[in-house]
Amino acid sequence: MTSGSDFLQLDAAAVPADGKSDWLARRLRRAMADGRLTVGSRLPPTRVLAAELRVSRGVVAEAYRRLTEDGHVEGRRRGGTVVVATPPPPATTPTGPPPEPVGAFSGEPGNDVFDALRAAPARIDLTPGRPDLTAFPRTAWLRAERALLTGLSADELGYGDPRGTPQLRRAVANWLARTRGMRADPADILIVAGIAQALTLLHPVLRADGIDAVAVEDPGSLGTRQHLHHGGLATPPVPLDPDGIRIDALRATGARAVLLTPAHQFPMGMVTGGERRRELLRWARDGGLILEDDYDAEHRYDRPPVPALRSLLADDQVCYLGSVSKLLAPALRIGWMVPPRRHLAPLVDAKRFTDLGNAALPQLVLARLLESGTLERHLRLLRDRHRRRRDAMITALATHLPAATVHGTAAGLHLTITYDTPDIPDTALAATALTHGVKCHPLSWHRQLPGSPGLVLGYAASPAGVITEGVAALGRALRELT
Ligand SMILES: Cc1ncc(COP(=O)(O)O)c(C=O)c1O
Repeated sequence: MTSGSDFLQLDAAAVPADGKSDWLARRLRRAMADGRLTVGSRLPPTRVLAAELRVSRGVVAEAYRRLTEDGHVEGRRRGGTVVVATPPPPATTPTGPPPEPVGAFSGEPGNDVFDALRAAPARIDLTPGRPDLTAFPRTAWLRAERALLTGLSADELGYGDPRGTPQLRRAVANWLARTRGMRADPADILIVAGIAQALTLLHPVLRADGIDAVAVEDPGSLGTRQHLHHGGLATPPVPLDPDGIRIDALRATGARAVLLTPAHQFPMGMVTGGERRRELLRWARDGGLILEDDYDAEHRYDRPPVPALRSLLADDQVCYLGSVSKLLAPALRIGWMVPPRRHLAPLVDAKRFTDLGNAALPQLVLARLLESGTLERHLRLLRDRHRRRRDAMITALATHLPAATVHGTAAGLHLTITYDTPDIPDTALAATALTHGVKCHPLSWHRQLPGSPGLVLGYAASPAGVITEGVAALGRALRELT
């Protein structure tokens, strides 16, 4: 721990008469951004720093509270206040050539488009699909892992069931019952490495069923579409209306399977409501298979929960797909599928011959966190934080992009804007935004059919101040192109 008068060379004489907490929070943010305070560093106790700076303890506590709110530090009871995420480095006048607009934005997005965008340097990341990763429950995870290892039998370190550990399948069954209104027998659950792997495991199984095309929503996730293409499956696009996918257009494709995001459509954000669900049910009864991508259903703010389609339809009509990527962290690569019974054995084979099953230790830790209520508490914390960030983005959009239409704000980790200037392609806008230091997705990436240009903007992973700054830069980028 750094403490005493050396701490960041903060000088009691430099403390302003007014706005002391503001000043201190700014100094600490700057120290984090320029690398003087790295992740894992401990801030001095409030009592010590207050005495050094000759301010009240409340001043320091308030500055720490603001940094906690930003997601940069975290209070740990005996561990003090620890830096858990550093803000982006301050903007500098570039000395070299300006960064190349990422190649990702020219031409059709290739298979590596998301890797390329991730690698592109930018101060502000508004790409969709990430929860607040600074909130990852590290302490609870470590505690659960330690307790688990203490009691783990040697056998449990051997090869296991390719469907996943019984503990996690049981915990997932309970979680799905509580949060998604679904009844699933643990024996029917397959633990996988995320929804991405679930889609890949489905390729041979669908083909064996004579299915070579999976209809997709349009707009709909480019990422999941790429996963289907990679297995040689066609993805006929089906347009949406305000209630979700259009069933007449779905029937017109002739496809026998469809990939849907019914709880929160990606990227437009609508919920597939009661009547549309009934129409889907009729489509499925005529022999259709629904792949239900429930990627971020836990995150909702201004609307009641909607049960999973799988809870309403017969088991053999829906293959349910979920994961912890939007709840905990994509890096865990843990997800689950509840397939129709007829597909279970071939899917278990596909999993077995891919990797013999997911790694056991993270499954066992996750099972403990699910069963102990830690994940439910984590979700409540995320929901409050995400809601404030979403509100900051809506306010910033009204100020800096007042002509844009905002879609899908009631739930999720992102929202989408469209704008009425078709001669400004959204790829050009996203490329210009990147030169202003902001990353986001052009909506056209997620379209196969023509439609309004727009941007898909993630708000969950950035503090409110960063979001406001990022949206202001998007406004400047749009003006630059007009
Ligand atoms: C709509 C949608 N489905 C599925 C996924 C993949 O999730 P996973 O990390 O579980 O593979 C994503 C990832 O961003 C997504 O946006």
